Amino acid sequence: MNSPASTSAADLPIHFEAVGILAGEVTILDRVSIKISSGAPTVLIGPNGSGKTTLLRAAMGLTRPSFGQITWGGREASPPTRRAIVFQRPVMLRRSAAGNISYALAASGVPRAERGQRTAELLSLVGLEALSGRPARRLSGGEQQRLSLARALARDPAVLFLDEPTASLDPAATKAIEDLVRTISARGIKVVMATHNLGEAKRLAGEIVLLHRGGVIESGPASAFFAAPATEEAKKYLAGELLV
Ligand SMILES: Nc1ncnc2c1ncn2[C@@H]1O[C@H](COP(=O)(O)OP(=O)(O)OP(=O)(O)O)[C@@H](O)[C@H]1O
Ligand SMILES: [Mg+2]
Repeated sequence: MNSPASTSAADLPIHFEAVGILAGEVTILDRVSIKISSGAPTVLIGPNGSGKTTLLRAAMGLTRPSFGQITWGGREASPPTRRAIVFQRPVMLRRSAAGNISYALAASGVPRAERGQRTAELLSLVGLEALSGRPARRLSGGEQQRLSLARALARDPAVLFLDEPTASLDPAATKAIEDLVRTISARGIKVVMATHNLGEAKRLAGEIVLLHRGGVIESGPASAFFAAPATEEAKKYLAGELLV
C-alpha cells in the first residue's frame, strides 16, 4: 500500500465542478460541485435514488459527465490505475477466496512470484485466512464483502470507492467492515463511500455529502454536519423523516 504523499499527489483532490449527468432526458446528477480531498473518509448519504452510486461511478471515472467537469489531482483525464471500486453487489469469480485475490493481483501487474505472499497478507488483513480455499461464492454475505475489499486493495489504490459496503449485513459483520475501513484509511488510502446507515456515517466520516434528487443538499466536515445541519432537508433526514 502507498504513502499518503503519493495518494494526494496523483489522484486527489477529486474536484467536481457543476457536474451534471443525464440518462436520456432524465437528470440523475444535477450541478454537483464538491471537492474530495485526502484525509478521513468522505461519506455520501441520501435516500434511495438520490445519486450516490452515480456520483461514485463518476468519481471513479466510469461515467462521464454530460455537463461540467471532474478533475483528479488537477488533471482532467487521469489514468484509473490508482483507484478501485467495490460495487453495491460485488460479483465473486468462480474461484476460491485466495483465487479471487490472486486474480486481482495478476490483473494489476503483480509478478507471479509475489502473488502468494500478497494474497496471504490481504486475506489476513480482512480476516479470511482460514477460508482461503473456500469457493468465494459459498462465503457468507459479510465474508464476500471483506473479500471484495481485499480484491480492491490488491489493485493498490490511492482512492477506494465503496458503495454501501454494509448494506444487508448484521451488526457484527458491519463492525468488521467498519474496522477495516478505519484500518485502510489509517494507511493513507482515501475512502469514499456511500451508505444508508446514518450511524455508520457518523462513526466513519470525516466529510459528509448529503444528496437528494441528484443534487448536493449539504457537504462539509461531518462533525459540523451532525452537530448543526444547515438546511431543513438535512435536519429532516437526520431526524429520520422521509425526504420525498
Ligand atoms: N443508466 C441509467 N439510466 C437511467 N436512469 C438511471 C441510470 N442510472 C441511474 N439512474 C437513475 O438515477 C437515479 C440515481 O441512481 P443511483 O443509483 O445513483 O442512486 P443511489 O443513491 O445510489 O440509490 P440507492 O440508495 O438505491 O443505491 C435513480 O433514479 C436511478 O434510477
Ligand atoms: Mg446506490
